[in-house]
Amino acid sequence: MDTLRIRGGRPLVGSIPIAGAKNSVLALLPATLLAEASCTIENVPAIRDVKVLVDLLRRLGAEVAMEGTTLRVDTARVVNRPMIDSGVRSLRASAYLMGALLGRFGEAVVGLPGGCNLGSRPIDQHLKGFESLGATISQRAGAIHLKAARLRGTRIYLDVVSVGATINIMLAAVLAEGVTVIENAATEPEIVDVATFLNGMGARIQGAGTDVIRIRGRSPLNACRHAIIPDRMEAGTYMIAAAATGGEVRVDHVIPLHLEPVSAKLREMGVFVTEGDESVTVKGTDPLLPVDIKTQPYPGFPTDLQSPFTALLTQAKGTSLIIENIYEERLKHVLELNRMGARIRTDGRMALIEGGTPLYGMRVRAMDPRAGAALVVAGLIAEGETAITDIHQIDRSYERIDQKLRQLGADVWRE
Ligand code: UD1
Repeated sequence: MDTLRIRGGRPLVGSIPIAGAKNSVLALLPATLLAEASCTIENVPAIRDVKVLVDLLRRLGAEVAMEGTTLRVDTARVVNRPMIDSGVRSLRASAYLMGALLGRFGEAVVGLPGGCNLGSRPIDQHLKGFESLGATISQRAGAIHLKAARLRGTRIYLDVVSVGATINIMLAAVLAEGVTVIENAATEPEIVDVATFLNGMGARIQGAGTDVIRIRGRSPLNACRHAIIPDRMEAGTYMIAAAATGGEVRVDHVIPLHLEPVSAKLREMGVFVTEGDESVTVKGTDPLLPVDIKTQPYPGFPTDLQSPFTALLTQAKGTSLIIENIYEERLKHVLELNRMGARIRTDGRMALIEGGTPLYGMRVRAMDPRAGAALVVAGLIAEGETAITDIHQIDRSYERIDQKLRQLGADVWRE
């Protein structure tokens, strides 16, 4: 198993191109199942979860060709079959196969999705949506069985603001009869991206990006071409790393508006953040001021960046408070950060970070992609050498992280 080694203490300097959004592509790939045609997706990130999902699509009979960052998926000859193996269970986004297969075939058998271990991650709102559209649902041997003679549009109020449920219901509803209205929908940029992709295939979705989404069902859908929006989590991670190391980094090919929650918090810490048309430059400062963070659905501070931000806050002069509102078990990186010298106390979903502590390199483990990102930021600051094990977790969300960090002057290598 690969280990990422970092010799800390060098400020990150330079510019870095940001890849396409993971949370978009993981929905766009299943969405291709809705057209019996070939879709071309540009700006696809070279991350591990994409490979897993492409394998799943191939198993359904899709023809997938990759050239550089462009992926062509032809789903004309796809055959519906139960998707219940370990690939499905390793990936949260495999839940989108439910909406897509149900939409196209009126039937789906999909293993309960796995993914990052962030506490209980129910899919009750996804299932509530499918049921409202007319599907019958049963759970047998760890798989969800969905069946509908006909899907019919209806009003669906989500009890929880959920990215996954919003997207999954959109997928199932685009080929349903009549109009579906999703109320209390999530408003993340990736949802807008998925709606843009589906509309490019001929779907009629309005309101994506607001909390009421209206979908007028129609069939069939056509071939389309789409470029994925930039990954705000990857960009945010490099911005945080730049601030943590006292460096100066420009993240390129980004949508600055999507990064506003991170930019605003960095500015509150005294960090210099300047926005270009498609870039954001972060310049570190000393001292860094402590801040409080509450994770929220978009446009609030994203839970995915809470972990790397925690590592940054260990360097602030004073005490910072983090409240993790989205996931009940997303403070696991704290244990490893404390082993490296941080002084962080947790209580349930809260973390109190006493800043200004030196960090020391040691052997630590990436428990999930974002906890891994926290350890990378910590390793870049730490005195001595940090060895991060289980970096396949980091590779699930970050493309070529070692190369990109080296490009910014970090002393990083994969072993
Ligand atoms: C997506 C992202 C993930 C991000 C998260 C929140 C993908 C592939 N992953 O995950 O990176 O951290 O959004 O921005 O896009 N919930 C329920 N019932 C449901 C669904 C969700 O109670 O049926 C709860 C979850 O447990 C969680 C909250 O709602 O507490 C938000 O989850 P959700 O937005 O669905 O996250 P994911 O789509 O899984």
